[in-house]
Order: sequence, then C-alpha cells, then structure tokens
Amino acid sequence: MASVAVKGNILIIDDEKSVRMTFQKLLEKEGYTTHGTESINNAIEIIDKRCIDVIFADIVLNQTSGLEILSYLKEQQLAIPVIIITGQPDMNTAAEAVKLGAYDYIIKPLPPFKLLHLARNAVEKKRLNEEWQQIEGLKSDYMHRLEKEVALQTVKIKEGERRYKTLIEQSLIGVFILMDLNLRFVNVKFAELFEYSKEQLEDDFNITKIIRFNNQVTFKEIKEIIRKKSYYFSEVTGVTCNNRELHLELWLSHIIYEEKLATQGIVIDITERKRLQLKQKEMELDLMNQYKLAIIGQLATGVAHNLKNPLSNLLGYTELMHKKHPGIKEIAKIESQIKRMTHIVDTIMRKTHREHAMYTTNVNLNEIVRDEITFLEANLDYKHGVKTTLMLKEDLSDIKAIYSDISQSLQNIILNALDAMYLQNEKRLTITTDEDNIYVYLNVQDTGCGIARENIEHIFDPFFTTKPLHSSGNSSEPVGTGLGLASVKQLLTAYNTQFHIESIVNEGTTFMIKFPK
Ligand SMILES: Nc1ncnc2c1ncn2[C@@H]1O[C@H](COP(=O)(O)OP(=O)(O)OP(=O)(O)O)[C@@H](O)[C@H]1O
Ligand SMILES: [Mg+2]
Repeated sequence: MASVAVKGNILIIDDEKSVRMTFQKLLEKEGYTTHGTESINNAIEIIDKRCIDVIFADIVLNQTSGLEILSYLKEQQLAIPVIIITGQPDMNTAAEAVKLGAYDYIIKPLPPFKLLHLARNAVEKKRLNEEWQQIEGLKSDYMHRLEKEVALQTVKIKEGERRYKTLIEQSLIGVFILMDLNLRFVNVKFAELFEYSKEQLEDDFNITKIIRFNNQVTFKEIKEIIRKKSYYFSEVTGVTCNNRELHLELWLSHIIYEEKLATQGIVIDITERKRLQLKQKEMELDLMNQYKLAIIGQLATGVAHNLKNPLSNLLGYTELMHKKHPGIKEIAKIESQIKRMTHIVDTIMRKTHREHAMYTTNVNLNEIVRDEITFLEANLDYKHGVKTTLMLKEDLSDIKAIYSDISQSLQNIILNALDAMYLQNEKRLTITTDEDNIYVYLNVQDTGCGIARENIEHIFDPFFTTKPLHSSGNSSEPVGTGLGLASVKQLLTAYNTQFHIESIVNEGTTFMIKFPK
C-alpha cells in the first residue's frame, strides 16, 4: 500500500535552541505542527494540554535526562512514540532508551531525510496504534456483548430444561417411552411407582414384566388400535419390584423417538381410588344390613308387645288353677315357664326401648357369665352332657356398658357353642375372663364341630347360618336364622370391642372378645 503523507503534532525537547529550531522548521515545512521546549517540566505541560503524536527528546538536557519523559508517559499510560536524540554514538545509552520504552533513537547530527522518515513512521505508528486500540475496544465490546448473550441464552435453555424436568420428572403421573416392548425412558414417578430405579428400567427393561394387559390383548393389536384411533387406553394391573399389585390407567400413543417410531405412554395410579370404591360398596352393604336388622327389631318388638297380654292372662289362669288344685305340682312348673317367657318378652321390650334411651352402668363380666350359666341350667342339652368350666379372674374390673347388650351377646355366643357340640361325643364349655391395663378379655371355648375356613369371614353377616331354619322333627336339633352373631356385632361395636376367632373343624372353637377398659 502506498504511504500517505501523515501530518501530526510533534514535540521537540532539546536544550540547544539552534537544534530545536532547525528540527521545527524542517518538520513544519513538511506540514507537521511542532512545539519546542528545553525542559521536561515544560514538555509535560504541553503534553497535558495538547494532543501530541510524536516526541523527539534529547537525552542530555540541562540538569536532567530526556529519558525522564519516558517514565512520565508510562506513568500516565500515554502511548506516544518517543525518539531519543543522542549526542554521541553511545550504543549502551541508546539501547537502554529503547528498553525503557523509546520508539527509536537518532544520533546527532542528523540527516534531514532520516529525521523526516522517523517522524512519519512514528506518527503513522501512533495512528495505527490508536486504530488498533479502537478495534480492540470494539472487539472487546463485541465479545462482551456476545458473552452476555450466550449467558442469557444459557440461562434460558437451563430454565427450559428445568421446566421440562419439573414437568416430566416431578409429574404425578408415570411417563415412559417404549421401543417395541422395551423401556427406553421413564420419569421419576414411573420408577417410584414400580419400586425400581430409573437406571434399571431404562436398560431395555421389558414392560410386560411390570404391566399386565388385562384383556389378553397383544402388543401388535395395541399398535393397530393406536394406528386407527391415535391412542390406546385401558385399565391394567401393575406389579412392582416388591410384588405389590397396582391398579393403573394406561394411555399409549405413537411418537418419533431417536428417529424411529416408538410408543409413548402414561400411567396413573388408581389403586387408592379403587380401594375407596370397594370400601364404599362395603359400607353400602353394611348400611343395608343394619337397615334389615332395624326392621327385624321393630317386628320383634311388635310381636313381644302383643305376647305380653296373653302371657299375663296365662299367668293369672295358672295362679287360679293352683288355688283350685293345690295338689297338681305341674301347675307350678307351667307357672315358672310362663314367668320365663314373660322375662324374655320383657328383655326384648327393654332392649328395643334401650335403643332409644341408652343408659350405661358399671357391668361386671363375671356376674354376667354366672347369670347366663344359671339361665342355661334349664336347657336340657346343657344339663345332659355339657361340662362347664368357668375360669373367672378374681376382682375383675367393671366395664361401662348396657347390661343386656353384654348379656344377650354372651347368650348368643354360648348358644352357638352348645349348638356346635350337639353331635360331639365330648362336650366341654370353658368360659374365661381376664384383664390387663387396657382390656378386659372374655373367651368362650367349645369342643364343637368348628367353623370351616371359608365360613369364618361370613359368620357375622346377617342371615348367614349353617343350621336349618326349622327342626326336621328332632326337637333338640339346632336351628338358626343366622342373626345371633350379627346382633352380637351390632350390640358390641359401640364399645369398640375386638373379636378374634380360632377354630379347628371337628375340634372346637374359641371365641375371644376384647373390651377396652
Ligand atoms: N361356636 C361355634 N362353632 C361352630 N360354628 C359356629 C360357632 N359360632 C358360630 N358358628 C357358625 O356361625 C353361623 C352364624 O352364627 P349365628 O349365631 O349368627 O347364627 P345361627 O346360630 O346360625 O342362627 P341364630 O343365632 O340366629 O339362631 C352358625 O350358623 C355357625 O355355622
Ligand atoms: Mg346363633
């Protein structure tokens, strides 16, 4: 590139006026603006005021050295090229000057062309330097902006990634991607649901190991359904790593994953929902049963009430007969049986009455057991053959209850035990009471026919019975309606009692009740 005439501001520091003037004239003729001074201090003033492009400085000034200007420029971080003028050809001084940052040096006397050449180069160097600095400035500005932009984009990408992760990984539904039947991606929820680690499942795990497609549909058929309807939906059973069963809703559709056709799916755990539905059904059934019992209760009260008048008439007549025929002993027996019937009727009426007015008293289980056994003495089956053992804990704590709730429950349980021993050779009834800090225990044990395993869960159901409804001629054969234990359960649930039944077919049954104190 052809060099362009470079004009600029040149400062000459020299204590020899004649030299200074010659320099200045020569340079000005060439179009430069020049400034001349003989001292460093003056030179500094000029530099501070004006924009100097090049400095010529004599190395030997009056008391000082032209080199001092170099330290000043360095201190002020001014990039002005300095050409040192030296009187003798002392190479050491010249080299030192360059080391200190001088642009060049010249030796007096100078040929004018060399001076001009140096001046032009130095000015050009300064300009280039300035341009370079400008470009550097622009570059660093640009880099700075670029870095900022990159940082901003990175934050945006990270934010996007974070959102995606939160959405997919923290999602409440299980998300997965399948290649054929092998899992390629699962989210955290999916892994948690099936109790595996993400890594285990993402290692080409076969999905049929953990999801059973309920209606025997093949994966090929599923793919066909997705192709036609764009999705597949079904309720399926899941099996976790720990063999727990899950009820799941499964949705499948097709996607392109890693440039291949794949299947994406979501699963929603509906195990809890199913459980609640089942519980609700059970509760509805319970309510229906309670309703049935209530109706039977009303009927029984009606029957009991209507029996009361004929019974009291009968009692009156027997008393009359007793007076007329004091010799007939059987009349007294009839009288006592009528009294028993009246008592039963009274109990029924009391019970229904109590259902409206609930009053609890301190009840002692030992007393009730003794009463019930006395009451049963009249039962022929009982009299003939059943051995009774009472193992009642001394000073047993009372429980707060309505007396007949407990007595009728116990009676039903004992009657069942007697019925169960009807055909057994060995008939033993053992009633035990006990207590600890929290509970009072009542056990009724028999050596009867036992309860078949499949029946145990039904014995409290209303109308569940294994006995005929009517006797087939043999008056001592047990009959039943299947309401005994249903009413026991209903009467005792109010006391938060717990039941436990142990039974071996043909060996006997133990019926245990825990009453919270
Ligand atoms: N101790 C027991 N030994 C063997 N089976 C029993 C015993 N207790 C109850 N069961 C079984 O439970 C069923 C239901 O008993 P529950 O007392 O409710 O009705 P039931 O005795 O058949 O009729 P109901 O008590 O109304 O006269 C009985 O039919 C019997 O099969
Ligand atoms: Mg019964």
